[in-house]
Amino acid sequence: MKTFPKDFLWGGATAANQYEGAWDVDGKGPSVSDMCTNGSHTTPKRLTPAFEEGTLYPSREATDFYHHYKEDIALAAEMGFKVFRMSINWTRIFPTGTELTPNEAGLAFYDKVFDELNKYGIEPLVTISHYEIPYGLVEKYNGWYGRECIDCYVRYCEAIFERYQNKVKYWLTFNEINAGTMPMGAVLSLGCVKGYNGPVNKVPDEKQIRFQGLHHQFVASARVIKLAHEKYPQFKMGNMCIFATKYPNTCNPDDVLKCQKEMRTMNWFTSDVHVRGYYPSYMDRFFEENGITIKKEPGDDEILLEGKVDFYTFSYYMSACESTDPKVLEEAGGNLVGGVKNPYLKASDWGWQIDPKGLRYSLNEIYDRYQIPLMVVENGLGAYDKLEEDGSIHDGYRIDYLREHIIQMEEAIKDGVDLIGYTPWGWIDVVSASTGEMAKRYGFVYVNKYDDGSGDLGRRKKDSFYWYKKVIASNGKDVE
Ligand code: BG6
Repeated sequence: MKTFPKDFLWGGATAANQYEGAWDVDGKGPSVSDMCTNGSHTTPKRLTPAFEEGTLYPSREATDFYHHYKEDIALAAEMGFKVFRMSINWTRIFPTGTELTPNEAGLAFYDKVFDELNKYGIEPLVTISHYEIPYGLVEKYNGWYGRECIDCYVRYCEAIFERYQNKVKYWLTFNEINAGTMPMGAVLSLGCVKGYNGPVNKVPDEKQIRFQGLHHQFVASARVIKLAHEKYPQFKMGNMCIFATKYPNTCNPDDVLKCQKEMRTMNWFTSDVHVRGYYPSYMDRFFEENGITIKKEPGDDEILLEGKVDFYTFSYYMSACESTDPKVLEEAGGNLVGGVKNPYLKASDWGWQIDPKGLRYSLNEIYDRYQIPLMVVENGLGAYDKLEEDGSIHDGYRIDYLREHIIQMEEAIKDGVDLIGYTPWGWIDVVSASTGEMAKRYGFVYVNKYDDGSGDLGRRKKDSFYWYKKVIASNGKDVE
């Protein structure tokens, strides 16, 4: 029976906007994340077009990878990481997004990071844009709604590909690109929020703008993938999307059809474009019914076909059910990706429904559809951790969550899925993307940093650190 292949890429994931800090150091410009305040499970974080004195902007310092990269990479190496998912902060390289030449100090920082990873034989997996669109592009072009962003992104990619061609092999063009299919994606993912001042979950929903912005991201992604394939044949180029598994709430055909529709628009649409190289036909009806007209320029369709990804990656945290029953819908709530609660599942303190078998199901569905290598590049449990007086953190609940998901990944491999890597989210504590909190922690490593911005940024190993080290050393055999 198959199991994890011997060269399986075990590791962990982070993103610059939630981890790096040093938001204005060495010439870096502000990104849309730097303009977001903190929030909580109950109070949404806000986007402010100008900095407000006395307000906390958690991405500004985050958990300060910028000044701790050596220490952190040593911790990752101690756990036995084979791969390290991180993102390059676009605004460290092009501070407003529109410059014609890159910022040398920014490029030099990532040279140091990649060299440090290389010292330990750890492969970087780089997300080119992870919720870090330059705020300059938001102000100038209304983010990705402006077609001009495509050239800015291509220029950014040309600079980092050329510079890191011998240091980075695995690239992901956009983090969770399908966030743009949801209203909240207008903020962090698309940056279509010119002049907006308010809670991130209250941005006026303009579908025409969001889906046009997505089209520009598709074209940008395909252009740089084509470039990479032609000029840097050693590169492996991947997509990255949220896979939020949906089940019909009942076997009522209405529920089944609604579920199919949600699966398509939310989970399949963006990756169908990335993997197959063209818009799926089911989107025509969606666009028509929602009054959306995608404006394409000559050559766009050709470029999509020429810039297909080499591997498929996704984040997996939860599943949800789809119902058409008005009574059921009325009682629904508590899940980020919509849908109604599944009575067979438990949920995290933030209401995210925990469904390890859903991961096996999803891996099978994705692999059946695309037949290219897959990587789970985010998965994990956001939880409240308690720092004991002796400095220990007993996070057995996190170990339980991850263990069950790893078991189901192995089942999927046995089912025949070509799964090549696993990078649990926030392997070291970072700022939460959805709420801007520190209290929602995912890490194997605890960082002394708190919701009010206090903390000395010291690092401590949680129980899960030692457990994951064992998992990696045994190549997934010892998960107890
Ligand atoms: C994904 C993002 O949505 O989930 C990450 O790619 C994010 O940036 C992660 O941090 C977990 O979400 P949250 O809101 O708990 O931080």
